[in-house]
Amino acid sequence: MGLSLGERCGLVMQSDIRAMSIECARMGGINLSQGVCDTPVPPVVLQGAADAVMQGANIYTHHTGIRELREAIVAKQRRFTGVAFDAEREVVVSAGATGAMYCAFQALLNRGDEVIVFEPFYGYHVSTLRAVEAVPLFVPLDPSDGWSFRVEALEAAVTPKTKALLINTPANPSGKVFSCDELALLAEFAIRHDLFVFTDEMYEHFVFGGLSHVSMASMPGMRERTITISGLSKTFSVTGWRIGYALCDPRWAASIGYFNDLFYVCAASPLQVGVTAGLRLLGDDYYHGLAAEYEVRRDLFCAALAEAGLEPHVPQGAYYVLAGTERLPGATAREKAMHILRETGVASVPGSAFYHDGGGENLVRFCFAKESHVLEAACEKLLKLR
Ligand SMILES: Cc1ncc(COP(=O)(O)O)c(C=O)c1O
Repeated sequence: MGLSLGERCGLVMQSDIRAMSIECARMGGINLSQGVCDTPVPPVVLQGAADAVMQGANIYTHHTGIRELREAIVAKQRRFTGVAFDAEREVVVSAGATGAMYCAFQALLNRGDEVIVFEPFYGYHVSTLRAVEAVPLFVPLDPSDGWSFRVEALEAAVTPKTKALLINTPANPSGKVFSCDELALLAEFAIRHDLFVFTDEMYEHFVFGGLSHVSMASMPGMRERTITISGLSKTFSVTGWRIGYALCDPRWAASIGYFNDLFYVCAASPLQVGVTAGLRLLGDDYYHGLAAEYEVRRDLFCAALAEAGLEPHVPQGAYYVLAGTERLPGATAREKAMHILRETGVASVPGSAFYHDGGGENLVRFCFAKESHVLEAACEKLLKLR
């Protein structure tokens, strides 16, 4: 038989995250590898979706999402970031932020276009770039200096083929929250080199220690070149519902919407209604409560990591923590993560999953978006490493 897989299959492989989840399930361990939050869904969101199912919300919706949801998204965006979008022409509701990102790359990037990505990166960003045959250029974040970056490194990376900059704030896996000053530097850089900015703001409501999330589109001169991507997976603990969105200038949004129609047709109709109810009915106290609740989890978990001898890089946002594994046996991050799983029954992700070329070997990432009793059990088990 002369048949074979297409060449792109080599670019998209099973992620280490899924591999660790599978291994953890086989061992009956506590899975802190995947970013699956098992915290409760707000009842109004559940009720909204249940009512929609019972009332027959069964058919395709508009390819950019139901109008009520688009309006609720722009209202929330204005309330929290100060940026106004037009619900009719500047919002594309997609199959999660993942779907929105893929459609945005399809619409705006050509084969061979370069995109600057900060490292450590979220694996889906890089794999999705590769899936559209774009080329990631890596700029390091320095763990010893609060995950800072150097403008000189950005200048050294950029070439005439560079079309975009990708940022993720708050970031997975580092937990970095880009400051206003950093965003101003990046905005100036993007304008000077005429770049798009893709900004993944999935964890916008998970910001700790009195810091604030600043949206790139709110920076002067950035709105027209920024594609803001976010969604409700994390904010409402509905990762399996697959509701996310892109917000941007209509020149880009129209084509992003056509790709969304092609790949997904629309996001799940009754679930769009459910998250609309959440966006309409939940007040600031919900969002503030979320941040406060996760800050408690962060502090509890980071204290346990420190006690277990896995030095945590305490995150400013999102719900992951990278921890140092220098003192554990094993030559690679994968071996070290396996050691932790074997010894304690707690699954993490090898740090190498977040670096392109041999980085992250002394790091593992834990997800702390777990119900308190699960997190406490994991903390207890990790102390076996002392
Ligand atoms: C940075 C980041 N963006 C996007 C996603 C996925 O979002 P969605 O479930 O909306 O596709 C994740 C999930 O882990 C993430 O960490």
